[in-house]
Amino acid sequence: MKAVLISEYVTDPGALRPTEVPVPPLHPDRPILVRITHCSPQHADILHAQGKHQNNNPKRGWCHPPFILGYDFAGIVEFVLPNRSIENLQINDRVFGAAIGAFAEYIAVKPETIRKLPEGLSNEAACAMAGQAVSYAAVVHVAKVQPEDVVLVSGASGGLGSVCCMAAKALGARVIALTGDQEKAEMMRRDMDVDSVVLVDDGGKWIDGVLEYTNGVGVDVVLDNTGMVNDAIRCLAYMGRIVVLGFAARKGVMESVKMNKLLLKSATVSGYRFGESGRRSPQTLEAVWEGYLELLRSGQLKPLLYGKYDGLEDMGRALGDLAARKVYGKIVVKVARSQRGAKL
Ligand SMILES: NC(=O)c1ccc[n+]([C@@H]2O[C@H](COP(=O)([O-])OP(=O)(O)OC[C@H]3O[C@@H](n4cnc5c(N)ncnc54)[C@H](OP(=O)(O)O)[C@@H]3O)[C@@H](O)[C@H]2O)c1
Repeated sequence: MKAVLISEYVTDPGALRPTEVPVPPLHPDRPILVRITHCSPQHADILHAQGKHQNNNPKRGWCHPPFILGYDFAGIVEFVLPNRSIENLQINDRVFGAAIGAFAEYIAVKPETIRKLPEGLSNEAACAMAGQAVSYAAVVHVAKVQPEDVVLVSGASGGLGSVCCMAAKALGARVIALTGDQEKAEMMRRDMDVDSVVLVDDGGKWIDGVLEYTNGVGVDVVLDNTGMVNDAIRCLAYMGRIVVLGFAARKGVMESVKMNKLLLKSATVSGYRFGESGRRSPQTLEAVWEGYLELLRSGQLKPLLYGKYDGLEDMGRALGDLAARKVYGKIVVKVARSQRGAKL
């Protein structure tokens, strides 16, 4: 099969191309073979390819070359290991999920890493939304956003950020979306039901815009996808809460925070690592997926698709566009050329 193999870390993920590799073997731990119809790159894939993700840490990490890149995918169940009947799952079912090795024609997965597609959702749309249950969980279960809250979202034009905005709006909160790009700001005003879009500048003047919007009070919640806790504290109301989701703007260099700043605002800062919390609390994970899929079905969450990418040969271009911050919403790369009669 074709796959984007990382045989050694690369400096430019934009130069990656697919190569021929064996179809992954099934074993009791990964008994399901999925034929991938679509896959979607995210920020973490760039870091994985470069060896800069915490998962690549030589001592504590688990992701070391050679490995097939990619997380988010949608596809069709091709084969299930004999003697392993998986509850509610059959050959030819349409599924979506997130597991390392998704930039390929086939992936072998554990039952818990895939879900059946809800009726009415295409494989392309499901693939675009496969990785963003994180955002729903951060808004609903971690930040516990309330209708009266004003919520600030960093990296709001990105995969996680856009869903943070839509989920907070679905709960009735007022949302301020941050972006670093004028063109994306206009698209966000057009497509996302946010209350304000603020352009981030290097000098920090944008913080005045946020404070002005809240009549100097500050925001109740910050959902931080880019790594800006110091700035978030400056934007925060007394007793406000910050949820740290990611560090898209930090290029691997973490910021330091003076603790007295937290004390002065009685602020709460929570980190949220979706995968690990799901492993530790499967029941909460089920509740997260139920709520997330309900908002998808109701149309309150919708995929924002960027560009056109056809075939794994286009994955380098997709990763290059993502790294260059061109992308608004999500890229979905179409992988399967033959549809075999399935409704995708
Ligand atoms: N906590 C978890 O469990 C979890 C799960 C998945 C991913 N993550 C992390 O969450 C973060 C966001 O992921 P994502 O998939 O939403 O990423 P993404 O789609 O690439 O979006 C990131 C956004 O951040 C903004 N940004 C600001 N400065 C940037 C810079 N220097 N480089 C790149 N982007 C910059 C960009 O918006 P503008 O150009 O509009 O400013 C971009 O749209 C990443 O750090 C990722 O590793 C965390």
